[in-house]
Amino acid sequence: MEHGIVKQTKIAYGADRKPGAEAVKVQDLTFRDGHQSLFATRGRTEDMLPIAEMMDEVGFWAMEVWGGATFDTMHRFLNEDPWERLRTLKKHVIKTPFSMLLRGQNLVGYRNYPDDVVEAFVDRAAANGVDVFRVFDALNDFRNFETVVRGIKKAHKHFQGTVCYSLTEPRMGGDVYGLDYYVAKTKALADMGADSICIKDMAGLIAPYDAYALVKAIKEAVSVPIHLHSHFTSGMAQMSQLKAIEAGVDIVDTCMTPYAFRTSHPAIEPLVMTLLGTNRDTGFDIEALARIDQIIEKQIVPKYRHLLNDTKVSIVDINVLLHQTPGGMLSNLVNQLREMGALDRLDEVFEMLPKVRRDLGQVPLVTPTSQIVGIQAVNNVLFGDDKEPYKMITNQVKDLCYGLYGKTPVPVSDELRAKALKGYPRGQTSIDVRPGEVLAPELDQARKDTEGLARCDEDILIYALYPTTGRQFLRWKYGLDEVPDEVRPKTLEQIQAEQERKRAAASGSGPSTDSSAGSSTGRPDRPAPMPEDLPGLRRFDVFVEGEYFEVQVAADRAMRVSGPASVRPSTTAAPARPSAQSAASKQASGAALAATTATKGTTSSGGPAKSTKPSKSAPSDGTPVTAPMPGLVISVEKNEGDSVQEGEPVLMLEAMKMQNALPAPIDGTIVSVLVEAGQKVDRDDVLCVIK
Ligand code: CO
Repeated sequence: MEHGIVKQTKIAYGADRKPGAEAVKVQDLTFRDGHQSLFATRGRTEDMLPIAEMMDEVGFWAMEVWGGATFDTMHRFLNEDPWERLRTLKKHVIKTPFSMLLRGQNLVGYRNYPDDVVEAFVDRAAANGVDVFRVFDALNDFRNFETVVRGIKKAHKHFQGTVCYSLTEPRMGGDVYGLDYYVAKTKALADMGADSICIKDMAGLIAPYDAYALVKAIKEAVSVPIHLHSHFTSGMAQMSQLKAIEAGVDIVDTCMTPYAFRTSHPAIEPLVMTLLGTNRDTGFDIEALARIDQIIEKQIVPKYRHLLNDTKVSIVDINVLLHQTPGGMLSNLVNQLREMGALDRLDEVFEMLPKVRRDLGQVPLVTPTSQIVGIQAVNNVLFGDDKEPYKMITNQVKDLCYGLYGKTPVPVSDELRAKALKGYPRGQTSIDVRPGEVLAPELDQARKDTEGLARCDEDILIYALYPTTGRQFLRWKYGLDEVPDEVRPKTLEQIQAEQERKRAAASGSGPSTDSSAGSSTGRPDRPAPMPEDLPGLRRFDVFVEGEYFEVQVAADRAMRVSGPASVRPSTTAAPARPSAQSAASKQASGAALAATTATKGTTSSGGPAKSTKPSKSAPSDGTPVTAPMPGLVISVEKNEGDSVQEGEPVLMLEAMKMQNALPAPIDGTIVSVLVEAGQKVDRDDVLCVIK
């Protein structure tokens, strides 16, 4: 019997339908990729529980509930213990296996972790409730699977080997990503003992007829079940899914309708109807699905709706068809440019992207490589020039050139490699072994670092993966620090009231926030905290260096008129953003930009209680090193009194999840350091001063 071909059989309808032997199996992504794609990964466990039991009854092959970006956002923004989510959901979802997205040796972070951390993480994930491990590597370098696969097999769990689907041309083919490439990769996964194989089309690039050809070829090459994961972003996913089903794909990924489409996935309900009465009928009860949708629509998504990026009417992003870049990567680029006041340079970044990608070995564009390529392209446009585009190379690019992420599909350009590895602490010659081989163990140190704070291995792992925000989370968890309001759960009423205030502000009838500035955290997807109305508010018009600000002064804080917290740009006045910024960044080289003296208009969009501004005041003379973008200070490399040479890293700033070494703009001596590690800074904040 030829498996997979869709043919009409007797149509059974109603709750007691049973799927046939050839039924398409379905994995639901609502609790992970769904809210990650549409609602900035902000889904809370409490909002999954109202439908958890009903979802368990549908008959999904698995439910993806963990991994990807959820681990990061839960502990960082939601004050939720990621491990606890698994345990809680497991109490409500008894029959349906749980799956997670695991970034190979990157786990659920953005770098390769050493083997001891990887082993402990997989062990704990399995123990806490993960049944299916979907494992991918951003470079499709399966050596990065070796350690996790050992752990998955040891725990007797399902290893789903994943190939990231990528293109260098509009359709499958070309020098790198042709049919041969994918067939060879799937064979390698089968040889590694994959229990199933996933084609992961994170950007929605797979075209229907390519999906057909690909699934056909893979089904002929290997005997394990084939699973298609395709984002809707470009508008092709439903067509591709159907062609893949015709070619015999075994499992597909969908979301419940309210979590479907846009940059998310095809919805389950239309698929159920499409396959009804065929040999590939899912057997799902569409009325049961509709009942779940109703609860989601009424009780759940209204709490997240404001996070939806719906600035356009279109739900299809044709940029993906034009540029073959993932939708998430595009919005990151846009946000980053906006935060740097250079949104008008997006076209230049689009031109730069393919060049940077080629220089970096035609890597697939998926977390974290999409950020690595994207942010380097932005850096090249903003800080480089025609002669030397790579003036500010991120640490991640250096690591990639060294081989720390694995083997790129084609070699990194020799010229870039030499440039990136100049002064690189691990050495000037790149490695050719599995990256895990060269990474020193970190777990013991993490254990020591969290002594007296962490109470279980799961706690230690949160810290091991995310030292700065992980420690902060553990301090919240154990009551050592007060939990700030912005990470606490909110009721629908609170959210609606907040949105109402924002709408009022936007229409000019309330306190304004500068929506174009993004947040002050370096995380653009985070809504800026809304300032509370202050009693007896009085407004003044102020001009600072030719720029208009509306200053709001509370009656009881009249003395604080010059404080930055009380100054914010008016949404009604032009220019809304300092136009000088984009002009400056257009001309400036990296060093020159870092030396920009503009500290005017500290127009933080944060609320009055914001305490993240540099607290010390800068000396009036000397050359300041300013933050070229909002972010988090990771480390300060130089102390007061140290001498530095031009171009030498002074401190590390994490922005958009990338670490950037900020170079000294001149030779001199550090006369003042105004920030410390762990501190959030805004664009143009003075970080230190050199004389
Ligand atoms: Co996805």
